[in-house]
Amino acid sequence: MFADGRPAAEVLTELARLHAGDESGRGRPGVANTFDSGSASVEEVAVRAFELYLHVNGLYPTAFPSVATLEHQVVGIVGELLHAPKGAAGSWTSGGTESCLLAAKAARDGRPELAHPQIVFARSAHAAWAKAAKYFGLDPVIVDIDPVAMTADVAAIERAITDDTVLVVASAPSYGHGVVDAIPEIAAICARRGVRCHVDACIGGWLLPFAEQLGHAVPAWDFRVPGVDSISVDLHKYGYTPKGCSIVLYRTAALRRSQYFVAADWTGYPVVNPTMQSSKSGGLIAAAWAVLRHIGADGYRELVGRTLAATRELVDGIAAVPGLRVLGVPAGSLVALTTDGVDFFAFLDELERLGWAVQPQLSQAGVPPTIHLTMTATHGPHVPDLLGALRDAVRAAGARDALPTPEQLGFVDELAALARSEGGVTADALAELMARAGLLTDGRLAPVHALLDGLPSTLREAVLLAFFEGLNPPL
Ligand SMILES: Cc1ncc(COP(=O)(O)O)c(C=O)c1O
Repeated sequence: MFADGRPAAEVLTELARLHAGDESGRGRPGVANTFDSGSASVEEVAVRAFELYLHVNGLYPTAFPSVATLEHQVVGIVGELLHAPKGAAGSWTSGGTESCLLAAKAARDGRPELAHPQIVFARSAHAAWAKAAKYFGLDPVIVDIDPVAMTADVAAIERAITDDTVLVVASAPSYGHGVVDAIPEIAAICARRGVRCHVDACIGGWLLPFAEQLGHAVPAWDFRVPGVDSISVDLHKYGYTPKGCSIVLYRTAALRRSQYFVAADWTGYPVVNPTMQSSKSGGLIAAAWAVLRHIGADGYRELVGRTLAATRELVDGIAAVPGLRVLGVPAGSLVALTTDGVDFFAFLDELERLGWAVQPQLSQAGVPPTIHLTMTATHGPHVPDLLGALRDAVRAAGARDALPTPEQLGFVDELAALARSEGGVTADALAELMARAGLLTDGRLAPVHALLDGLPSTLREAVLLAFFEGLNPPL
């Protein structure tokens, strides 16, 4: 595979051929967490800015002082939108997960005296928080959500806080159901108990300020709320920057301090890493800076206006389809819908058959399985088609047997036995088992999701791990 060098044009042609099999991630709703502004000039400004900073290493703000300027200016723009007070401080990160991990690390390292630090979050908080707990040795205390509003149970959060709690997390909005937690109440409890309160606004934090400016009713969630200590906001979502761009902001520089890593006691150069990465792309910082400045406040208002109109049309349309229901009241542009009286996975299967490969979310502690739709600025013209497909899929599913089929159910016992075996669930063993159960032979994922939905989470995780390991198999 690794031969002598080939002409650039040939290499690029090969790359384009490989990429041709990918989803486009543009235009219509479908692939979650892809954001297309629909504007050629936004793409051009990102590419040109990245090109200019191709060889810049963000590790060295002293050698490349413009990187520090760009970061500081972008943090300033985000701080202004979020009403950060004077003295607030933030950092550039590679994405939402890194922003969340850093807020957790800063909270833990801000309380070095604790032997068993805890973090409190609701079941609706992004999985990045469970990851933060795992990575940083925090004890996760997970509270339930209101089954109708889908927001975090505030009283349960209050009960969960102990002297060992270093951080409480609330979402604005939650990824799964697009609802904003009761931030003023949660932050007030945290302030009273002397615990840091983080608002995870990774996905909605760039959209909500413009929604408010457009006159939409937006629940209080940003630094105007007393007791909110830190907020994470991704630019690579509704900021429409390239992937790899997020900001974590703290009410004071003192709160940010324990996020930094400094090492001057090894044989190499003194290392100062404000974030998890050390060497990092200057291109992404430059591209994000350029995209924010190019689109501007007026441009984002326009993009957000279109996004919210598309979401409204979708939510109203779903309300008119018998057998479908939106969970909670979406605060912005994220919609989770489920079926009533119709098998959800048969519906998902029909929707896939109609060409809509949307993101399923499995059932969880009494919350039914849902389809997640992240609406963006280019989705409006596709809403009538999507509504038509949803209507057809629910009708067709109503006439079908439930998924998984009885034959496919045999997979579950065999899987449990495999998990207990010495080798565990490996990619090869899983592939063989799935083939025997007649799964994925036609490339359709809905039956697999139906089976996963019935599994305890440890088995779900074993299957997912093996499947994704199989995508990058041993050499
Ligand atoms: C609320 C929330 N937090 C964190 C994340 C993680 O972001 P990323 O995928 O950029 O790491 C997401 C992603 O959708 C999110 O919605």
